[in-house]
Amino acid sequence: MIDPNRVEVMIPADQIAERVRQLAAQISADYDGKPLLVVGVLKGAWILLADLVRHLSIPVRCDFVRVTSYGMGTETSGEPQLLLDVVEPVAGAHVLVVDDILDTGLSVAWLREHLQKKNPASLRLCVLLDKAERRRVPVPVDYIGFSIPDRFVVGYGLDCGEQFRELPFVGHVKGDA
Ligand code: IMP
Ligand code: MG
Repeated sequence: MIDPNRVEVMIPADQIAERVRQLAAQISADYDGKPLLVVGVLKGAWILLADLVRHLSIPVRCDFVRVTSYGMGTETSGEPQLLLDVVEPVAGAHVLVVDDILDTGLSVAWLREHLQKKNPASLRLCVLLDKAERRRVPVPVDYIGFSIPDRFVVGYGLDCGEQFRELPFVGHVKGDA
């Protein structure tokens, strides 16, 4: 367990809320007239997805996938595993994958290929956070909330060994990289 006093606010809740509203407006404009399937990547993206869809002005279907590449620690194993697949039909759908953070890009690159095989009409990616410095494979990303430096962050869905997902802000654990 990490002492909660070690968590320092990096992006306050009100800034996240404002940015999510902007992203939702952009997405609503881009997909106007196109039925949208939003696919959240569990578990990290569930809070972002819940906030995002409530600000969309277009109808959406929501589904989830669960991909894991992390154990309890903070380093990626590099081997994504699909623990839960989409149930909603993807063929012919405009799919927007929503994830918490783009780090090495390995899990999303793998997920893109996985969803592409289901023949969507289009496939885009929205992430709350982008740690571009850490990228190991190129991943096209269409909507980014915030670009952040290479630091391990928690809160607003993001965890460290399942701790801190419930924090309303994005924080950094003091003493960590
Ligand atoms: P990637 O495959 O390396 O891009 O990692 C993707 C997943 O790793 C994200 O969806 C997160 O669940 C997790 N992750 C990467 N960086 C962080 C972080 O700083 N804090 C918490 N989780 C992270
Ligand atoms: Mg995680």
